[in-house]
Amino acid sequence: MLKRTLLCNDVTENHINKEVVLNGWVHSWRDHGGVIFIDLRDLTGLVQIVFNPEISKESHHIAEKLRSEDVVGVRGKVAARSDETINLKLPTGKLEVKVNEIEVFNKSQTPPFEISDDRINIGEEHRLEYRYLDLRRPKLQKNIICRHKCVHAFREFLDQEHFFDIETPILNKSTPEGARDFLVPSRLNPGKFYALPQSPQLFKQILMVAGMDRYYQIVKCFRDEDLRKDRQPEFTQIDMELSFITEDDIYPLVENMFKKVIQEVFGVEIKTPFPRHSYDDVMLKYGVDKPDLRFKMELADITDLADQTTFQVFKNAIARKGIVKCLKVDDGTKLSRKDIDDLTAYVSIFGAKGLAWIKMTDKGPESVVVKFIPEQIMKEIVSRTRAKQGDILFFGADKATVVNDSLGNLRNKIAEKFNLIDENELNFCWVNDFPLFEYDETENRLVAKHHPFTHPKLEKGRIGTEEELTKALNDTPGSLYARSYDLILNGIELGGGSIRIHHKKLQEKMFASLGFQEKEMQEQFGFLLRALDYGAPPHGGIAFGLDRFLMLMLRESSIRDVIPFPKTQKAVCLMSDSPSRVHDRQLKELSLKCDIIE
Ligand code: AMO
Ligand code: AMP
Repeated sequence: MLKRTLLCNDVTENHINKEVVLNGWVHSWRDHGGVIFIDLRDLTGLVQIVFNPEISKESHHIAEKLRSEDVVGVRGKVAARSDETINLKLPTGKLEVKVNEIEVFNKSQTPPFEISDDRINIGEEHRLEYRYLDLRRPKLQKNIICRHKCVHAFREFLDQEHFFDIETPILNKSTPEGARDFLVPSRLNPGKFYALPQSPQLFKQILMVAGMDRYYQIVKCFRDEDLRKDRQPEFTQIDMELSFITEDDIYPLVENMFKKVIQEVFGVEIKTPFPRHSYDDVMLKYGVDKPDLRFKMELADITDLADQTTFQVFKNAIARKGIVKCLKVDDGTKLSRKDIDDLTAYVSIFGAKGLAWIKMTDKGPESVVVKFIPEQIMKEIVSRTRAKQGDILFFGADKATVVNDSLGNLRNKIAEKFNLIDENELNFCWVNDFPLFEYDETENRLVAKHHPFTHPKLEKGRIGTEEELTKALNDTPGSLYARSYDLILNGIELGGGSIRIHHKKLQEKMFASLGFQEKEMQEQFGFLLRALDYGAPPHGGIAFGLDRFLMLMLRESSIRDVIPFPKTQKAVCLMSDSPSRVHDRQLKELSLKCDIIE
């Protein structure tokens, strides 16, 4: 085999007149008056190789039959290109290799699309089906290599901070993180199933009980949920857990970790510490618990003022215990009727029944709703929202979840439309002081806002004693806060974690508040409860989405572009065609019968 002595992009002027051997793929092929010019490509880039029959008749003859994506080795002398053939777009553009020997390692079928970042006008489905060709594109190769560098930098940081990389099982019991489980039938235990981990949550806590002090893992997690641009059914977490710590140990540790990784891999300095905001505050001002703070624009609650108008939309919402909030958009009067109609259609995705608005024109407030608002109230709305001439006010009136969801998302949409976002900014913030529970309307019960192992706290600034917490879990669970924290980057949830419950009694009480009966609690979490009874240290941790981090850092719009082999929106791998049917024989071995319920 003609073994390379150099990578394509490493050919420099120092090699002129020297013989080199290169290996790579035929990127492009041109015949100019009997001399064949090929751009040879490997992971590092392109270099021009030239087949002149006067140098090697045999090589030229072989080169005549070469086509895109054939894979070859060539030996030849490096030469400077003549001035008129210099290609300044390529780092090797002043050079070429005059080939005197070639070995064709393999031929390629005509690729279904060009291997290029410039003209990817083919559908993503096609790219995913031929992922090995798609991955030959420089941009995707750069993304995957960047992923490697980040993983390396995270590991190095965590190693220096005395974390141990410890594996946890993939086949196990369900770990409730709020999604559906992927189940795996057990052949040796007919009728029983493993669940793939939604996260290593329980095992990492048990490692703390086991005295391992600081654990981390860069680990695959599995969640059967509806997929979006920042969600995959299997994704990777940078997962960690620490003993004998409080929230105040987590914040600086995480900040330093991101500071170091971003500095090392991307050469960018970020400012630490990251600002911290309470959940109540961000919900009030931004309507979402992962605010994009790269731009200003805040919501104002005007329920009290709306109640003093005669606008039925407001009055009805308030009568049904709803709220009225307002989003002020600077210079928003420039929005056309059609723009407003489009935005109204947009908020309907989040359940809003309409989008009332008032334009602040030079003739004063203008809108169909102005006649329902007494002058004094209008003045107060203007003063609360700090609206000025040229602005527009958008109103949402409904139950709180609908208003926050629709105006919070409208805020992001308008920032995009008005180009308010500096794409170069990395805006990190913490959100904390979450409520411990939220009410699940479909299931008609309380569910844990983070997960059921999160330590409650009585008030924003006070944890409270175990007795106080137990009493509150009994009497007023809805009033409790959680010792949890989320890390947000540019309006996307990058990670989340909490200080955990480490006393068995409090954990049992927590499960009871979530509606678990004793038997069910023991069946699902008996092993954790038992472990907590054997000297569990105070502990806590956090996990970050590696794929999301890369998506944001590489400014990709989908996490599929930072994952080597991602799945489609329908959770399908188009390249290997999975999931797929299995043989009856296999089902029989598993003691299963497949009966699809329509
Ligand atoms: P959480 O459920 O918040 O916490 O998950 C942590 C982070 O994982 C990422 N993530 C995902 N990324 C891609 N696709 C998905 N489907 C997906 N789901 C989650 C997000 C998220 O912030 N065990 C706890 C952590 C802890 O308490 O220590 C946990 O898993 O970036
Ligand atoms: P209507 O009374 O239906 O003619 O609506 C008057 C204005 O109120 C329109 O601009 C609607 O888009 C808006 N609107 C209707 N329902 C709501 C709501 N729940 N929240 C905010 N605006 C609404």
